[in-house]
Parts: sequence; C-alpha cells; structure tokens
Amino acid sequence: MNDVPLLPILLHPDPILRAKARPVAEGDADLVRALAPRMLATMYKAPGIGLAAPQVGEKLRLVVIDLQPDDTPSPMVLVNPEIVAASEERAVREEGCLSIPGQYADVERPARVKVRWRELDGTRREMEADDLLATCLQHEIDHLDGVMFTDRLGPLKRNMLIKKFLKEQKLKSREAM
Ligand code: NI
Repeated sequence: MNDVPLLPILLHPDPILRAKARPVAEGDADLVRALAPRMLATMYKAPGIGLAAPQVGEKLRLVVIDLQPDDTPSPMVLVNPEIVAASEERAVREEGCLSIPGQYADVERPARVKVRWRELDGTRREMEADDLLATCLQHEIDHLDGVMFTDRLGPLKRNMLIKKFLKEQKLKSREAM
C-alpha cells in the first residue's frame, strides 16, 4: 500500500465537484481497479474515512470508505452505490469533507439507509447501515451527484462556513508564496 501513488484531492469550488458522475461501466474495469487502491491510499493519508471519485477528478460513481473500527483497516470499495431506502427517523452528526478541509458542521440526514453497490469483481452487495456508516455513505454518494455536505446546511451556516474556508485558503496560499 505504501507504494501506491497518491492522488491530488480537488477542493471547493472546483467545478468537477459539482458535476454528476456517470455510472461505472464494464469498459471501466481496468481504470476502476487501478483507481480504487489509489483512492484508499489518498484517503488514509489525508486522513479521512471516505472519498468519492469526483474528489480526485474522476467523474465516476465510485466511492471508498474505511471507518477503521478499533484502528483496524477495513476498506470498502463501492462501485455504482445507490441508496435504495432511507429511514424516516433522522440523525444529526458532525461532518467534514476532504474537499473543504478544516471545516465541520452538524448535518441532519436519515438515521439509517439501505445501500446497494457492486464490488470491484462485480459482486452485488446490499447492506443496511446506521450511525457513522449511514452518514458516511450518504455523504459520499452525495458527491457522485455533485452535492457537498454544505448544501445540506441552512443558507446562513453554509455561507459562513464557505466564507471561512475560502479565507483560510487565501491565507494559506499567501503563506506558501
Ligand atoms: Ni466529502
């Protein structure tokens, strides 16, 4: 895993983050098999618990997640994931995003979701998730539709957070000069 080249993570307001990603097709098999380990390595390095292909510039419906329970790596690679059911019950959890680094806010979403996807070898998978995994799955699948977690905030909170992020980015680029 150490030799896997890392990928640059796109930051807000990169327009690729706002595009709708296309489904992974059979012809993408080689690309996706090469991309998934690089996305995982990039996510671990960041560090983060989830990364969607558009965040590394690929408009493909591909997501990697690893909540690392008890610090044990347990990577998930989700090809063409979709939410097929969501609970009426909602939950609030603090979210952040590698494309808006350093900014966190409480986001309300369905507490539980049922998700379907394919593994890299084409195996169909389905699972019901709650807690952090439910949040993470919804956050990453949102990325495939060009939706950022900030879109799930009220306008006041969203504007404040984005303004703060852009200001911090500006300071950072000035320091780098
Ligand atoms: Ni994100």
